[in-house]
Amino acid sequence: MKNVSRRGFIEGGTIATLGMSVLPVDSLYGNQTWKTVRIGVIGTGGRGTSHIVTLLGIEGTEIVALSDLVKSRAENGADLCQKSGKPRPKIYCGDVNTWKELIDNEKLDCVIIATYWDSHTAIALYAMKNGVYPGIEVPAALTVDDTWKLVEMSEKTGIPCMMLENWSFRQDNLAVLNMKRMGMFGEIVHCHCAHSHDCIDHWFFDSKTGDQKWPAEYLLKYNRDQYPTHSVGPIISWMDINRGDIFTEIYSSSSASKGINAYFKRKFGNDHPNANLNYRQGDIVTSLLKTKMGKTLVINYDMQLPRPYSNRWLLEGTLGVYDEEKNSLYLEGKSPEYHLWEGWKPYQDKYNHKWWHSDFSAQSHGGTDYVMLCQFLDAVRAKGPTPIDVYDSSVMTAIVELSGISIEKNAPVPFPDFTKGKWKVNKPYFALDKL
Ligand SMILES: NC(=O)c1ccc[n+]([C@@H]2O[C@H](COP(=O)([O-])OP(=O)(O)OC[C@H]3O[C@@H](n4cnc5c(N)ncnc54)[C@H](O)[C@@H]3O)[C@@H](O)[C@H]2O)c1
Repeated sequence: MKNVSRRGFIEGGTIATLGMSVLPVDSLYGNQTWKTVRIGVIGTGGRGTSHIVTLLGIEGTEIVALSDLVKSRAENGADLCQKSGKPRPKIYCGDVNTWKELIDNEKLDCVIIATYWDSHTAIALYAMKNGVYPGIEVPAALTVDDTWKLVEMSEKTGIPCMMLENWSFRQDNLAVLNMKRMGMFGEIVHCHCAHSHDCIDHWFFDSKTGDQKWPAEYLLKYNRDQYPTHSVGPIISWMDINRGDIFTEIYSSSSASKGINAYFKRKFGNDHPNANLNYRQGDIVTSLLKTKMGKTLVINYDMQLPRPYSNRWLLEGTLGVYDEEKNSLYLEGKSPEYHLWEGWKPYQDKYNHKWWHSDFSAQSHGGTDYVMLCQFLDAVRAKGPTPIDVYDSSVMTAIVELSGISIEKNAPVPFPDFTKGKWKVNKPYFALDKL
């Protein structure tokens, strides 16, 4: 892969797209020769459509083709492109493999994969094999074997493979990363994170009818951390995973499964079929991960009990602690009052990451998706490394299957080293250039 310069800015112009203006975002790659990035989007449901809207607000991009199992969804995406003044993308609809024709025919630079979980890996492998950068929605794979296939294909073809873990790009998390790299928390010893997001009434099941949507099938079949990547995304950089340290084992435990049945009884009555169906998925999965250098991490899956959203990010080091849920931190010898919390916001402002030099809050997920896609597309345009590489994507992804195995065995299971020993020499990388 090309060794690229990591300086400077791309000064984005302003165009009107769907009522949004294009905002300049720091580029990983400086003033590269401008080239329009040719993008395909596969999967134009909720997330794929949100990506289309975000992409239409990024200069130097063209969505040339869309694919979905449902034609009206792809047409809707094409309408959005056309309404924004861009050319209408070509539609590929047919069966579960029609996306192959899209990759074969369209001379793409990259493909955004926002399909059901079961097709992410196959599409990404095919894209890399054909020289196309995959940007894969979470998780990148469902098994450790498939995760290894992504690593091997990326190594063989030299095409970077990025899972689109947007929470790694959040403004608060990047400011914490800046502070961690300046040594303000001392040596990091422990982190905690969670995906506490009640998705029963909209993502797993239809809110009006209670009908099962595709992700609910996984709640019937498995008991594991189904969705670890949002919580663990920022943490792997805070803990220097794959770059100086590595997860060695994971030990997961699950609570009973009560929340789904209780929801259906409450909302649809005792006779609704889902009120008594036996869901394998426990309500709370707690995973303890250990690292080679003696750090620990606790991750909670928590997506089927009634509660407000939270990621509960916590970072503890020898000089202090950051607690996202408290919106506070404490720094030994610096915080004004001994062993008392102080507010986070002034630190976020002071140690703000340069990727967040403008107010992107009107964009989806408070601007996080916009910042992420800009950085991904800069890498694609430069044919350089992506901000999240295949190894970091793999570590986040592997937790899905490994947590299930550990719950089943009621024992810790070893964590694979996707870097094959390179973690010992790899230097910190993610978002490093913008300190
Ligand atoms: N990062 C985030 O914040 C975030 C948020 C929501 C969803 N997601 C992820 O995005 C992905 C999609 O989730 P969603 O909520 O948009 O689901 P969705 O059901 O709304 O959309 C998925 C779409 O993919 C299409 N599809 C499935 N298999 C296909 C195939 N083989 N070829 C072409 N199209 C296919 C479906 O027809 C559907 O329109 C999932 O991986 C999910 O985990 C991420």
